[in-house]
Amino acid sequence: MTTAKPYSLPKLGYKYDALEPKYSSEILELHHKKHHKGYVDGANQTHADLQEARSNNDYAAIRQLSKNQAFNVSGHVMHSLFWRNIAPEGSNKPGKALTQMLKDAFGGTKGLKDQFLAAGTSIQGSGWASLSYEPTRGDLIVEQIFDHQSNTATGAVPILVMDMWEHAFYLQYKNEKKRWAKAFWSMINWDDVGERLSRLEGLDVVGSKS
Ligand SMILES: [Fe+2]
Repeated sequence: MTTAKPYSLPKLGYKYDALEPKYSSEILELHHKKHHKGYVDGANQTHADLQEARSNNDYAAIRQLSKNQAFNVSGHVMHSLFWRNIAPEGSNKPGKALTQMLKDAFGGTKGLKDQFLAAGTSIQGSGWASLSYEPTRGDLIVEQIFDHQSNTATGAVPILVMDMWEHAFYLQYKNEKKRWAKAFWSMINWDDVGERLSRLEGLDVVGSKS
């Protein structure tokens, strides 16, 4: 186990204008520097608040602190994935192992795309579409996540996430969620998605493989 360290805003692997014209530099900069940073700060603040509550043995605010922890940590994690899930070159195609799993789970890449975009564009309020590895079955699933943290299958790990909060697209795409989703799909860095999947091999949340 490594030592815990404070949450921090990750550097992007590309410039703010690198995804133009699909993703405007204005949104990308705001999204990274302001919105994502807000979740990083919120996660660190909540961690400090919980330490204080423990040292004072005062849990009067535990309900709100627990909510803040789930919201801010998840917001930070989801955005950290999101930046790496997309790339300027739009990129490649799913690799061999991922392609096989997509075939098994969704009948192929088109099956994933249809379900993923349907989940993402039909969220009531703010949220995400996520392609997640579900370790208990050893399968891929699509999740429709509310805010950053709700409506998820316990133990499933996101490997491809599409931000459907208005802050992610409204300045450029207004209320045209389907147009934003289509643009997102064309920017996916499938190498990153495949690498994430390969790192999860052997993950055993419930002990069923022992
Ligand atoms: Fe966002």
